[in-house]
Amino acid sequence: MKTELSTRLGVEHAIFGFTPFPAVAAAITRAGGFGVLGAVRYAAGEDLARDLDWMQEHTDGKPYGLDVVMPAKKVEGVSEADIEAMIPQEHRAFVQETLAKHGVPELAEGEASGWRITGWLEQVARSQLDVAFDYPVKLLANALGSPPADVVARAHDHGILVAALAGSARHARHHQDAGLDIVVAQGYEAGGHTGEIASMVLTPEVVEAVDPLPVLAAGGIGSGEQIAAGLALGAQGVWLGSIWLTTEEAELHSAALTNKLLAAGSGDTVRSRALTGKPARQLRTAWTDAWDDPQGPGTLPMPLQGLLVAEAVSRIQKYEVEPLLGTPVGQIVGRMTSTRSVQAVFDDLTRGFERAIDRVNRIAGRD
Ligand SMILES: Cc1cc2nc3c(=O)[nH]c(=O)nc-3n(C[C@H](O)[C@H](O)[C@H](O)COP(=O)(O)O)c2cc1C
Repeated sequence: MKTELSTRLGVEHAIFGFTPFPAVAAAITRAGGFGVLGAVRYAAGEDLARDLDWMQEHTDGKPYGLDVVMPAKKVEGVSEADIEAMIPQEHRAFVQETLAKHGVPELAEGEASGWRITGWLEQVARSQLDVAFDYPVKLLANALGSPPADVVARAHDHGILVAALAGSARHARHHQDAGLDIVVAQGYEAGGHTGEIASMVLTPEVVEAVDPLPVLAAGGIGSGEQIAAGLALGAQGVWLGSIWLTTEEAELHSAALTNKLLAAGSGDTVRSRALTGKPARQLRTAWTDAWDDPQGPGTLPMPLQGLLVAEAVSRIQKYEVEPLLGTPVGQIVGRMTSTRSVQAVFDDLTRGFERAIDRVNRIAGRD
């Protein structure tokens, strides 16, 4: 599945895979796609360096990328402690009440909260980049807006292409004006932070808006047929996130969560602010219901909500409290019905793509 963009990046297939797990990212790259490691969960630069070292050793010299969550607007001199201090007591009490209602045990004395996503604090994202620029990363992607101009310039100086996610044509044009190389048009169906426009409408709008910049179609893609649809809409490739969550290489560390994903249908997700403070598609759970309940205190803006719920999410994950257990995932979860290796998923995607092209030709009488 070659396109101009896959040739430019030196990959066999124009299939980009976002994942928070190094083993998945490396396997996508080895399979002939382009693995992109999500950095938001790395608080410390050393942890990222350790995993990038590992990626280097497990990607057979093939290219891979890194995704950070860097806000375009600079907030100077605000520490994590300053942000913590802005969280109202009422919200802290609501977290504890909700956990108590479901009998979620406390973490052991001195046990650190494992799920602490501080990567969207600019200083943390910048420290991640300081590490990443020492590695032969070929693509830098940014989740929430165009990265700051100095970061784009630094990436380009290192020969790194810069991409960013866009949920509307306006966002996409902003990325183009900021000098970015690739736009990921991410539709409403997608897992994680999303806008309100479905991929079927968004992809061609973004393609047209930023022409001739290459666009990757994202959101709701989990089969070769859907990849063919993305290319038919003008994308130069596709960007998949959810589908890798139930692969053998994914380190979800929770059989209960994997089983929930395997059992979920395409209507079992919700776009909720419960996890981060910005609308993010995720499994609908008793946790998202509590935060989305008009009787509750409601969510706080990013980054307060993420800091507020970090310890709670760790506890829910550690003790596998089923009703509350969730993860960002898109509507494609309905097709994730078995655990397979990344390679098996990948083969399925590339074969399905060929089948889809043949089928369209047949239907259109072009055989
Ligand atoms: C578990 C999970 C975590 C995500 N975290 C991020 C992130 O940190 N940065 C980012 O740019 N996108 C993130 N996304 C969105 C993906 O990059 C991608 O755009 C999306 O998953 C595509 O839609 P799909 O889920 O339908 O494949 C996440 C998606 C999932 C499923």
